[in-house]
Amino acid sequence: MNDRTAPHAQPASQSPDASPLALLLTPEGRALLDEVRDTDPTRELAVATRLRREHPAELVSAALGQARLRQRAVAKFGAQDAGRMFFTPNGVEQSTRASVAVYRARRLKELGVTSVADLCCGIGGDAIALARAGIRVLAVDRDPLTAAAARANADALGLAVLIEVREADVTEVDTAGYDAVFVDPARRGGRGRVFDPEAYSPPLSWAVGAARGAPRAAALKVAPGIPHEAVPGDAEAEWVSDGGDVKEAVLWFGTGRAAAGSGGAVAPAIRATLLPGPRTLLSRGLPDPAVRPPGRYLYEPDGAVIRAHLVAEVAQDLDGGLIDATIAYITADTHRPTPYATAYEITDRLPFSVKKLKALLRERQVGTLTVKKRGSAVEPEELRRKALPKPNGTASVTVFLTRVAGAPTMLLGHPVR
Ligand SMILES: C[S@@+](CC[C@H](N)C(=O)[O-])C[C@H]1O[C@@H](n2cnc3c(N)ncnc32)[C@H](O)[C@@H]1O
Repeated sequence: MNDRTAPHAQPASQSPDASPLALLLTPEGRALLDEVRDTDPTRELAVATRLRREHPAELVSAALGQARLRQRAVAKFGAQDAGRMFFTPNGVEQSTRASVAVYRARRLKELGVTSVADLCCGIGGDAIALARAGIRVLAVDRDPLTAAAARANADALGLAVLIEVREADVTEVDTAGYDAVFVDPARRGGRGRVFDPEAYSPPLSWAVGAARGAPRAAALKVAPGIPHEAVPGDAEAEWVSDGGDVKEAVLWFGTGRAAAGSGGAVAPAIRATLLPGPRTLLSRGLPDPAVRPPGRYLYEPDGAVIRAHLVAEVAQDLDGGLIDATIAYITADTHRPTPYATAYEITDRLPFSVKKLKALLRERQVGTLTVKKRGSAVEPEELRRKALPKPNGTASVTVFLTRVAGAPTMLLGHPVR
């Protein structure tokens, strides 16, 4: 049973000016959070009405709001952690998912890092992973509510001994005493996502300066769409995907793999990492792959490989080529399993024609059509509706809408099992 009357605690009802988070951190707030944990969104109104008879309205709405944020956070942090953590709407949106934060924290640990200044810590997604890797963290955020959430999370997860949270502007924080710096700048402004790295808060140039000043290593999280030209010559750039979705790019300093290698040699400065795994592909500095006619197999490279411009490395490993100079589909005559691309066996090649596709799907008794596209303006949903108005069998087919040597083409096939 929930204890709403802990003897020494100030009841939430006596602190009307407190932030929603402060209300939730009282014993009454914590008990209420437990009570509303599994509230079905469709029952929220009825639950709120009932709870308002016993608790202040602002506490009830804070608890229900927090329960909703925790449910949203499960996808990033897992049910166990998300159910104990505290979030703000922006904090849950902008936080690093645990799988990616853990990977990065492990890499810092392998670089010999023992303490990190986490500049722009948000609600603490990265700070938590760093602390769990045994790294001491100074976590800084200038937003008071966000910093309070980070502090509450360090407490809730038993990591407060390793995480010191400071509410401050990162540009005014002295990071001496920490052997690495991690910066995850805010990439959203009043009008949504910000694409220019100099419009990040703080700007990328400031973050690069902070990274260069770190004694051992640094990592800067940036948007995966960052242009390769914006990667500093003394950094290593890594694109990370999780479950096939590209999550971020990271600029690393101090890994010994920067582009400007010693003796004029160019060391691999680019990598693509696929999670879970991790599976990491390093740049070999290859030129673009040759274009060749489609063979029996088509490979769809992982998004991190494409963003990192490492399609040539995968094509070389597969003894394949491109179906078109401008399209990131690799083709080959034999099948070689690779973690870096999904392989399909191609059964048909047709010039683009909805009518022909429809006839072929009918003839093959297709019930499920997966549409993939690169280099085509056709809407996959619309094509599916027109080409397969109703399933007429149990077969599954994947159609690739693409260009082969410049010509709009449909390649049909199925994933290699
Ligand atoms: C992308 S979020 C960080 C997310 C965090 N890594 C996590 O996993 O939870 C960026 C954060 O930077 C903070 N921020 C932006 N500019 C700042 C500045 N100059 N000083 C301190 N914090 C700043 C914002 O308040 C926001 O919480």
